[in-house]
Amino acid sequence: LLITNIRQLINTHNETVPRRGAALADLPVTENAWLLVEGDRIAAFGPMSELPEAYRKAGAEVDAGGGLVLPSWCDSHTHLVFAGSRESEFVDKIRGLSYADIAARGGGILNSTRRLNETSEDELFRQSWARLQEVLRLGTGALEIKSGYGLTVAGELKMLRVIRRLRGQAPVPIKATFLGAHSIPPEYKEDREGYIRLIIDDMLPRIAGEGLADYIDVFCEEGFYTPEETVRICNAGAGYGLKAKIHANQLAVSGGVQAGIAVGALSVDHLESMDDAALEALAVSDTIGTLLPTAAYFLRMPFQPARRLIDAGCAIALASDFNPGSSPSGNMNAVLSMSCIAMRMLPEEAVQAATFNGACAMDLQHEVGTIAVGKKANLILTRPIPSLAYLPYAFGSNLIERVLVNGEWLT
Ligand code: NIG
Ligand code: FE
Repeated sequence: LLITNIRQLINTHNETVPRRGAALADLPVTENAWLLVEGDRIAAFGPMSELPEAYRKAGAEVDAGGGLVLPSWCDSHTHLVFAGSRESEFVDKIRGLSYADIAARGGGILNSTRRLNETSEDELFRQSWARLQEVLRLGTGALEIKSGYGLTVAGELKMLRVIRRLRGQAPVPIKATFLGAHSIPPEYKEDREGYIRLIIDDMLPRIAGEGLADYIDVFCEEGFYTPEETVRICNAGAGYGLKAKIHANQLAVSGGVQAGIAVGALSVDHLESMDDAALEALAVSDTIGTLLPTAAYFLRMPFQPARRLIDAGCAIALASDFNPGSSPSGNMNAVLSMSCIAMRMLPEEAVQAATFNGACAMDLQHEVGTIAVGKKANLILTRPIPSLAYLPYAFGSNLIERVLVNGEWLT
């Protein structure tokens, strides 16, 4: 497949560590370009003035008509496997309840836990598969999916087996994260230690034994897990080779960022509530800070301080947090717009954070995240738009013309 007349080929580099500081805004671009795909891989690209005649005869040719070509979105934080929905809590929040109020009444995560445990594995797969199809059409070309709505041995295994099935049938790379420590199930309300032991002594060995997870996650938050518990659970995961990717500093300055860094987390995610100590610790670490602006928006929380994080030199990624309670959308195009509008990220920074740095936050930077020879041909072709900035600017428009997955047109 040869794609010609691409106005701009976006993010053409082949680095291996996440970009930070001023480098985040430096988005390598090839103007007026062509791109050759062989099988499922990017084989070559360059400016139209230097298109080898032989490639013209190589196979199918698609005229991009002045559209842009970007690497697909790399969504490094989702809870896409869940049962049902929670729009009644959405209305409760409109009427004035907070996310924490709803959780304290047994809603929130525990509401989804009840629904999940009443839903069969096949039905859970069916619902999750439909969500996956939706986000693929919105340009997501690699993603991470968490467990965490089971909170029992059987429930967590059911979720992780559904993720394994999605991974087996999906055309894009999927990473699986074990989030048994998402909440404390009601039956352990008076026995936190008992549930933590269940995670460490029962869930982890079974999950690791079946090879069901790549990462371990903990919701480090007031009313959920303390930094000390987070470190303990992540260290237990490390014993099985699972790197940490944790929920930190969402509702409060929880100590989660420092706990994540202490266990060598690949990423600490959310970061709505950052003080100077958390910010400075993150800036000098190798841990990626993953910002989830649609979750802050949906919960009417202050947005993540993206500018302060970038200017301090933190490596940041953008992700959707697709889940039924705080971000019932996996649309990375919306994440891109929101990061520019509400967090003052430059379009170039936002694209780098939603592609390459997101790939780094899943250890997938050798496969996806940029346009480089040998990487997977998972690409977005936009409508003919005047420039990259038009993408987040026209925030309500669907500007995706076609999506390429593994070198084949999905749409
Ligand atoms: O990332 N913060 C914790 N977990 C999810 C929300 C889960 C839910 O409400 O169902 C999040 O925002
Ligand atoms: Fe989350």
